[in-house]
Amino acid sequence: MATVLAIETSCDETAVAIVKNRQILSNIVSSQIAIHQKYGGVVPEVAARQHVEKVNWAIAQALEAAHCTWADIDGIAATCAPGLVGALLVGLTAAKTLAMLHQKPFLGVHHLEGHIYASYLSTPDLQPPFLCLLVSGGHTSLIYVKDCGYYETLGQTRDDAAGEAFDKVARLLKLDYPGGPVIDRLAQQGNPKTFFLPEGQISLPAGGYHPYDSSFSGLKTAVLRLIQKLQQDSPILPIADIAASFQATVARALTKRAIACALDYGLTTIAVGGGVAANSGLREHLQAAAIPHHLRVIFPPLKFCTDNAAMIACAAAEHFDRGHASPLILGAQSRLAISDVMRLYA
Ligand code: KG4
Ligand code: ZN
Repeated sequence: MATVLAIETSCDETAVAIVKNRQILSNIVSSQIAIHQKYGGVVPEVAARQHVEKVNWAIAQALEAAHCTWADIDGIAATCAPGLVGALLVGLTAAKTLAMLHQKPFLGVHHLEGHIYASYLSTPDLQPPFLCLLVSGGHTSLIYVKDCGYYETLGQTRDDAAGEAFDKVARLLKLDYPGGPVIDRLAQQGNPKTFFLPEGQISLPAGGYHPYDSSFSGLKTAVLRLIQKLQQDSPILPIADIAASFQATVARALTKRAIACALDYGLTTIAVGGGVAANSGLREHLQAAAIPHHLRVIFPPLKFCTDNAAMIACAAAEHFDRGHASPLILGAQSRLAISDVMRLYA
């Protein structure tokens, strides 16, 4: 299998990794979270400038840590979609330049395919078909993984992504950005049964609800109303109980849809990816719910759940082995459906 160096700059991590045969030779991640924290979210222009400052350092570190020279690298990859265009362009331009300079094939990688490949890194014997529950700051999708490059979205959020809901609820509670890890920590000290919060459902024209699509904006509004009501009685909010009740509602909603989808499509494995896969409530709920149905659930280690370049390199290495390469004119795209991954390769 190929040795690939990949660059990931789609949001607020400048990451470079070298992967060979689903094995990580190096995995460098420089997080910008501390810089964006004071704004309460990612500022796209600031993110792009930070990537420019860090990307060359991260490439040099990745080569050094892997004990590799350019002669050891078969292909050079970068995330090209979806993401913040200014941020994506930094990694993409660096990868294309290096590919030209060292005369290596260049591969653009779909960020969500990278998140799917995080499960191959942690479970190298994993084989498609399987279901991926992809839950990040920008996406909440149930993806039917058919083969490398071939995916079908079976369910998705109709409004906020799960990670976005965690970040917005954290802001309502005046907690730090990113909200997911903070709410997760607080939830472990609270009682999830304290408050009833409604799980968002998508009505179907013929009646009933969509079995796999989700909605989190109503839940966020319900938390806002709850906070306003509680504040009328006391200035001190039961933050841990609110966090636990909110987290349990999200975990239940995601679990219900993922299990129903896997069973309906006859898929026996659910691989979870994206930053929200780090959530302890989701891990507990999904793992427990899968047991009676004999479903295998894969949660990659936390460092592979949040954005990293090892998952991008792992996906690129498999495309390389199948003879796929991208044209050097490939652009950055803020949106691209995962069913369109093969459009990235000539
Ligand atoms: O996958 P990721 O690193 O970046 C995107 O591609 O979006 O996901 C970031 C998201 C943020 O919304 C963050 O709040 C959430 O993942 N997150 C979590 C946890 N750790 C990160 N959400 C819930 N629980 C966590 N432990
Ligand atoms: Zn991501």
